[in-house]
Amino acid sequence: MTDPAIAAYGLRKSYGDRTVLDGIDLTVPEGTIFSLLGPNGAGKTTAVKILSTLVSPDPDSGPIRIGGHDLATHAQDARAAIGVTGQFSAVDGLITGEENMLLMADLHHLPRAEGQRVVAGLLERFDLTAAAGKPASTYSGGMKRRLDIAMTLVGGPRIIFLDEPTTGLDPRSRHTMWGIIRELVTDGATVFLTTQYLEEADELADRIAVLHDGRIAAEGTAGELKRLVPGGHVRLRFTDPAAYRSAAAVLDGAARDDEALALRLPSDGGQRDLRSVLDRLDAAGVEADELTVHTPDLDDVFFTLTGGVVPDRPKENVR
Ligand SMILES: Nc1ncnc2c1ncn2[C@@H]1O[C@H](COP(=O)(O)OP(=O)(O)OP(=O)(O)O)[C@@H](O)[C@H]1O
Ligand SMILES: [Mg+2]
Repeated sequence: MTDPAIAAYGLRKSYGDRTVLDGIDLTVPEGTIFSLLGPNGAGKTTAVKILSTLVSPDPDSGPIRIGGHDLATHAQDARAAIGVTGQFSAVDGLITGEENMLLMADLHHLPRAEGQRVVAGLLERFDLTAAAGKPASTYSGGMKRRLDIAMTLVGGPRIIFLDEPTTGLDPRSRHTMWGIIRELVTDGATVFLTTQYLEEADELADRIAVLHDGRIAAEGTAGELKRLVPGGHVRLRFTDPAAYRSAAAVLDGAARDDEALALRLPSDGGQRDLRSVLDRLDAAGVEADELTVHTPDLDDVFFTLTGGVVPDRPKENVR
């Protein structure tokens, strides 16, 4: 049995009287992708910063081992094994992409020729060769993100932390990034990734943990998490607020989204189930403007676990 790449037990962190991480356990086997999923402010960045030695956990926090090294006693060894791409770019806009990369090579004390070789290889791999001589401030968001991750890889880290690597990227750039992340793992690295995008975790991660209120609300493969929410749901949307309120009154158990005038009811999507919903609406004399049947996806898991209202966001079609 080899050590897991990342192992943390009873991870705790508070800022003042705000408990951000309330004793969470995280284990990531070598050569896998782990995704920490959570809404804004859930503590994802805090977890990444602690695991990557940038921030100290609370004194009553449990042990953390990164690449087999105990963070409390061997932080320097752990640091040598990891690379971190923060949520906010570490790219210096005033210098070129290549200069940013060479700076990282210097920070890793790579001999000049080797540094240049590694940098050229990464620029090529991240499709940045043509732009390498231009100031990074002229790069698009997607290019900056790619440069950011390329910079993280200069030192050849075995364990890579990516804090929301695709936030703000368009669907195509997100796909490119997914390809890059998969390649990292094919090459043997371990990836710890945070995201707000459920489909991203679904797409990439071997295991997913949902962070909510400082705790892991659920953990498992995408399939395991989806099985937590059997049957899917029916979504009814209204344009008339009065019709919406009448429907909400007769369909007890429906989750309300008052802003979108939408109701969500647990349902197996079967004929009998749908008929019962429609009969109840008929009896109340209301008609929905839109009815959609959903089979469970990670969104359902997420909103079931975190007890949130149902968002009315269009699903991006990224495939
Ligand atoms: N240095 C700090 N001092 C005080 N509070 C902090 C500090 N860093 C983070 N917090 C608080 O900890 C909580 C979790 O923040 P964190 O950045 O880890 O969330 P996140 O899940 O990464 O959110 P986002 O999706 O917005 O990036 C927030 O309430 C934040 O205000
Ligand atoms: Mg964050």
